[in-house]
Amino acid sequence: MASDPAPLVLVSNRGPLSFRHGDDGALVARRGAGGLISGIGPLVAGTDTTWLAAAISEGDRAAAEQGTVAAEGFQVRLLTLDPEAYRLAYDVVSNGALWFAHHGLWDLVHEPAFDRTWPEAWDAYRYVNEAFAAAVCDAAPEGAVVLVQDYHLALVGRELTRARPDLTAVHFTHTPFAPPVWLTPLPEGAARELLDGMAAHHACGFHTRAWVDDHAASHAALGTRPPAPSFASPLASDPDDIRATAASEACDAAVARLEGLVGDRRVIGRVDRLELSKNIVRGFLAFDDLLEQHPEHRGRVTFVAGCYPSRTGVPAYARYRERVEETVGRINERWARDDWTPIVLEMEDDYPRSVALMRRADVMLVNPVRDGLNLVASETALVNERDAALCLSPQAGAFERLGDAAVPAPPFDVAGTADALHRALTLDPVERRGRAATLRRLAEERTPRHWLDDQLRAATQR
Ligand code: G6P
Repeated sequence: MASDPAPLVLVSNRGPLSFRHGDDGALVARRGAGGLISGIGPLVAGTDTTWLAAAISEGDRAAAEQGTVAAEGFQVRLLTLDPEAYRLAYDVVSNGALWFAHHGLWDLVHEPAFDRTWPEAWDAYRYVNEAFAAAVCDAAPEGAVVLVQDYHLALVGRELTRARPDLTAVHFTHTPFAPPVWLTPLPEGAARELLDGMAAHHACGFHTRAWVDDHAASHAALGTRPPAPSFASPLASDPDDIRATAASEACDAAVARLEGLVGDRRVIGRVDRLELSKNIVRGFLAFDDLLEQHPEHRGRVTFVAGCYPSRTGVPAYARYRERVEETVGRINERWARDDWTPIVLEMEDDYPRSVALMRRADVMLVNPVRDGLNLVASETALVNERDAALCLSPQAGAFERLGDAAVPAPPFDVAGTADALHRALTLDPVERRGRAATLRRLAEERTPRHWLDDQLRAATQR
């Protein structure tokens, strides 16, 4: 007889719910945003999995005082952390340093320049990881499998091994992993501790083989203890979940609004957080070049870009936002006609509206500099109604599965991306339909359940 599956505990910095006080003072839970949540959320909703996450907002801190809160199908336990330590761990270490290393975003002539404030920030990162580990020790049932998510929480396994040897902790990184050349700019002690912290887990997962290899190479170059067994397992979008949003009234209304904006023009779409790794500016420059090279697209193609503010506490993000807005302004000024705005930039995060754009786009541009996976590529395939072509950067983890059916968009080659957009807009209809069908099949074939099964398999292999 098969034994009962081990209880599950999920651990991530951002939880599946965010809380706020309603008008009557009562706490209201809202489903959180972001790729990690939209991928993993449907897997866990309706189960008795405990999900541990940081209390980020004022409302979250009030919810944290109530212990485990059951809402929207989730059992969430939020951790109240020292606000300044949390800021240092999130803004300075996780997003100001580790994110840059894993995505290769540093302009090495000028950055990074770690000064004497770094040790305090690294201490804060340790403190947050230790607080999470203590919360896991407190909440996890005997023999549980603990799924630790992402670069914010690379050190959680250390304390778990010591204090709760009955638990099995699997760490999963949703970003790429820094190869040695991008890890070495980190202060050496931090880079080693990071690798050793990950090695303290039972296994380490990544979205693709390439990130597994980069992690192994960095370990070989810097690590002090042997790495944990590693595996590649791409997360996937839940087809039912996104199709339910696509069929909603809010999404229909957003499609109607979009039609009102673009009429019968063809649409190049993009849906991203306003994020340095997403390569938004070069995408617009490529559109500018496309209009320059191919007058036939002028007035006939609109670029609708959903770019939603993110990590506004990190100064480089505020500067990037300015560049995005300035680039759009310049291109629109150059090409606009009375009845046509070449680029429509939407910066207010609205999920049904993003899904509406995925439904209506003729071409979806996903051109990151480097990306752990990128779910927009497969989500578009699941809901699109026009056999959209996908212009996809080979540096996105999603390229490993979808690349053959996509039009490659070389992320640093603006002219090459413009050529890819032109090719995508002018694909022969039969080829276009064939590629869209392949993308749809690939997106349907793998669900979040496959990802979860891979985590559990890694947990049982001793
Ligand atoms: C993206 C990344 C994830 C990361 C998340 C954090 O979705 O792919 O690796 O965990 O951002 O976003 P946040 O808004 O919480 O900083």
